[in-house]
Amino acid sequence: MYCIRFASSLMPRPTLHSYFTLPPMYLQDLKHVWRDTWLYVQEHIVFIMIIISLLLLASLLPHLTFTARVNVDIVNGKEAKPHSRPYMVSLQKDKKHICGGFLISDEFVMTAAHCWKGYPEILTVEVGAHDLWKSEVSYHVEVKSYISHPHYTFCSQWNDIMLLRLQEKVKLNDYVNWISLPKEGDVSGDTLCSVAGWGRLRTKGPTSNRLMEANTTTINHEECQRKWGSKYFQASQMICAYGHGGSCLGDSGGPLVCGNTAVGVTSFVSVIRCNAPERPNVYTKISAYLPWIHQFIRNIK
Ligand SMILES: *[C@@H]1O[C@H](CO)[C@@H](O)[C@H](O)[C@H]1NC(C)=O
Repeated sequence: MYCIRFASSLMPRPTLHSYFTLPPMYLQDLKHVWRDTWLYVQEHIVFIMIIISLLLLASLLPHLTFTARVNVDIVNGKEAKPHSRPYMVSLQKDKKHICGGFLISDEFVMTAAHCWKGYPEILTVEVGAHDLWKSEVSYHVEVKSYISHPHYTFCSQWNDIMLLRLQEKVKLNDYVNWISLPKEGDVSGDTLCSVAGWGRLRTKGPTSNRLMEANTTTINHEECQRKWGSKYFQASQMICAYGHGGSCLGDSGGPLVCGNTAVGVTSFVSVIRCNAPERPNVYTKISAYLPWIHQFIRNIK
């Protein structure tokens, strides 16, 4: 699933082949072989150290540069007032929380495309939840269809957006409601927004059974691009934001809310440390996908 490829030609190979072309006689005399190997090592010690370091570096690289895509919880946040975000849903597999999501109508949930591995994986949606351990007013709804963005691939973080059509329309009430989407245009940098989720409380810590939330401020796209690099960050389809608190593993798919509008879908963070200032959280920019969304939902609010 990691799509980083290492060009094998980049790895210099030691020129040990001379040993394999030696006459058989020579190989019988192990003392010679060891002594010659030792001499070879001494002569080429720097070269060998470089190879070993390169191999070590190559094995570490995916961990250093890759980003978490599944299961992004909120760090440094606080517990949300129960049911203050009635659009929030928990996306579950075998009754276990895997991602966030949000209602955008009484029939559709928006989430991140990476939250679903494809058929035959079956997800359910828990609506009206606050504490996932106690279902007071919450209930599960089955998903009728998974509408992953056609240009999303597991090999990139691009177009990380998905719609879930629910098996039945949900009844709207104080605990279950949808959130509006942006009409058009970009949210500018330096806007105070918020995120919420049931994801991890610390990078390597536990997830939360209660919905957590944090404030976060959008960053202008030049700075996002500089911090992430253009391989990961695409200004036309992503937003990045940073705050005292932020998303972590398990929060993917939840909304970036600015004012009363969902402007982004939580997509990826640094796998090394959630909410690192040098790697601000990245969200799929909803306004870039409005025509695609309207194909499925015409009467969107
Ligand atoms: C977010 O900011 C608002 C307004 O400044 C504040 O009232 C609220 O407590 C903050 N929320 C969190 C989770 O820090």
